[in-house]
Amino acid sequence: MLEQYIEKVLISEDQITQRAKELGSELTKDFEGKNPLILGILRGSIPFLAELVKHIDTHVEMDFMALSSYHGGTKSSGEVKMIMDLDTPVNGREVIIVEDIIDTGLTLKYLRELLEHRGAIVTIVTMLDKKAGRKVEIDPDYLGFDIPNEFVVGFGLDYDENYRNLPYVGVLKQEVYMD
Ligand code: PRP
Repeated sequence: MLEQYIEKVLISEDQITQRAKELGSELTKDFEGKNPLILGILRGSIPFLAELVKHIDTHVEMDFMALSSYHGGTKSSGEVKMIMDLDTPVNGREVIIVEDIIDTGLTLKYLRELLEHRGAIVTIVTMLDKKAGRKVEIDPDYLGFDIPNEFVVGFGLDYDENYRNLPYVGVLKQEVYMD
């Protein structure tokens, strides 16, 4: 069972569902008639994006992009790599980036600049914000939860590509990544 590797549950499945409902109705109100493009950042955003879009009750389109900066460990490499670009043209388009977490902010800073350079009007939604980790200035427009400076996994977040399938956000036991 995966639970044995988890120190504590930080945010439960119910809390995430409830918050996704609230954010979904705010987005519905704010983007009614604007036909935004929901842009999921692979891989971590998928569980939260899937929960969130169920609660957006207006026309949206979806596309995906793959970026990576962690390359497997618990610390950001500091270098953002694009692995897969999106397909949809974004010039003049409202684009809602959906992320699982903002930590150093490097991924989103890179992405926002790239999309704005292509002419998109960018909005940022993130499930989690670890403000203590920030290295560059970037803030979400819509936020699920602030979290403390701990290494978290679950609901899309991985350690070495594992634990993304946990139905909650939890703190990984240190011994898992110390040996
Ligand atoms: C994680 C996460 C964000 C980014 C946030 O992605 O999904 O995209 O790191 O960290 P930052 O604010 O320090 O840039 P990761 O590179 O681990 O790829 P993944 O989504 O495939 O896990």
